[in-house]
Amino acid sequence: MSDPLRLGIAGLGTVGAGVVKIVRQKAALLEDRSGRGIAISAVSARNRDKDRGVPLDSYGWEDDPVMLATRDDVDVFVELVGGSDGPAKAAVEAALKAGKDVVTANKALLAHHGQALAELAEANGCVLRFEAAVAGGIPVIKALTEGLAANEVTRVMGVMNGTCNYILTRMESGGLSYDEAFAEADGLGYLEADPELDVGGIDAGHKLSLLSAIAYGTQVAFDGVELEGIGRVSIDDIRQAADMGYKIKLLGVCRMSGRGLEQSMSPCLVPATSPLGQLDGGTNMVVIEGDQVGQIVLRGAGAGEGPTASAVMGDVLDIARGTRVTTFGAPASKLVKAVAARATTPAPYYLRMALADKPGALAKVASALGEAGVSIHRMRQYDHVNEAAPVLIVTHKTTRAALDTALAAMPGTGVVIGDPVALRIEQV
Ligand code: HSE
Repeated sequence: MSDPLRLGIAGLGTVGAGVVKIVRQKAALLEDRSGRGIAISAVSARNRDKDRGVPLDSYGWEDDPVMLATRDDVDVFVELVGGSDGPAKAAVEAALKAGKDVVTANKALLAHHGQALAELAEANGCVLRFEAAVAGGIPVIKALTEGLAANEVTRVMGVMNGTCNYILTRMESGGLSYDEAFAEADGLGYLEADPELDVGGIDAGHKLSLLSAIAYGTQVAFDGVELEGIGRVSIDDIRQAADMGYKIKLLGVCRMSGRGLEQSMSPCLVPATSPLGQLDGGTNMVVIEGDQVGQIVLRGAGAGEGPTASAVMGDVLDIARGTRVTTFGAPASKLVKAVAARATTPAPYYLRMALADKPGALAKVASALGEAGVSIHRMRQYDHVNEAAPVLIVTHKTTRAALDTALAAMPGTGVVIGDPVALRIEQV
């Protein structure tokens, strides 16, 4: 039997404590499956005295994660500190320079520094794995990097922020306003310390940028993600989208078009009966489409102690077995710089607007759409509210540019009250 694989774990929050528990409670299973014992040499966190519900006395302690990362008795540095820079980055770089393999759950770090870290890992003969960084317990990195490696990926879509999905689901099921649903999620402890990471789409955008890099062999390009959070989604949109047979999701979509890499993370409509439309609460879903495999749907817990620690340990066991894959599924030197393209692939759009109650109002809106080349597929007008008629329009497929031309013409019609809401309908 080989020597045990020795871990140094930095960050003992929910996920770190979960990893320690798995190592302690499932030692025989881990050894049977990987052919090697898994041991913890030392740990590091900000507060040594905090009770984390798991005994830590038998492990070494380092106040500084960089010291932990370079200890002689650490083979794999497990980074669960978080943050795109600061101690997490310093410790991961130190570990790789010292020839240690690294397992991390840190999507922000990789979204901002993924290419440099992948190059550093390869230059030092190390692996850098990050299954837990994307969609929690769902093994999507492994699926894309390994199981689907023979495919040309045509599209990746994902609901990858459970907090946003929880808020949108509660708005729909409970009839709550955005602020009420946000407060409920906050009370349940779902929100990140900086809630904008969740509701601004940033956390999910980080995850999407990592999937794009693997799917299209490009250098991670978080700056190329068109980001829009859920803060402007109203209960009216949720209700009226439902009336037309759709659900609103914070949906990440990436695809390679003739113009370049399209990456968007924004509120979109999806058919209510589709797997994405039926995804309720804090769950995540990633849909991958490949030229050989067709469509794959992966669904599961996107956060939490057990699911995220499960993903971390999956990476650790791969290293214990001797499985060594490149960070983004191809040598770092082969990853090309992504040309960021605005999402230009034509799509149907949902438009909601309030019209003045005047003869010919609807005709003026229809003309403005027609002049921009936007064709109406379905339309509904609801009972007047305070002299204004709420109108819903679902367009045929059109480009965002044509839609923007039509939207720019709306104030000039003199009949549209306020700003129309326009949301893309993703065909799934
Ligand atoms: N805050 C994230 C979510 C989990 O709500 O899905 C960590 O990425």
